[in-house]
Amino acid sequence: METRNSIRPLGPVVIDIENITKDYVMGEEVVRALRGVTLQIHRNEYIAIMGPSGSGKSTLMNMLGCLDTPSSGRYE
Ligand SMILES: Nc1ncnc2c1ncn2[C@@H]1O[C@H](COP(=O)(O)OP(=O)(O)OP(=O)(O)O)[C@@H](O)[C@H]1O
Ligand SMILES: [Mg+2]
Repeated sequence: METRNSIRPLGPVVIDIENITKDYVMGEEVVRALRGVTLQIHRNEYIAIMGPSGSGKSTLMNMLGCLDTPSSGRYE
């Protein structure tokens, strides 16, 4: 029987990204915000994305939410 506090087993992969990069081009300057991120997130999995300011957390979240597109890599 399942109780309220039971930890659900991980389900199938729902977010699968491989070698994602994001370059922001501003004139002659290129900011390499993501340099090859590979990550899988399963159903029922809770994750935290942590890193210092400017490390690309918001850039990655924009990819995961389909608000922006990566420069290269695969996202399913
Ligand atoms: N629209 C943009 N145009 C150019 N450079 C950008 C743009 N958005 C982010 N950057 C740059 O990309 C890098 C990653 O930024 P990002 O905002 O993803 O970091 P963050 O981890 O979310 O930082 P914070 O903790 O301060 O929110 C930084 O060098 C930032 O200056
Ligand atoms: Mg941010």
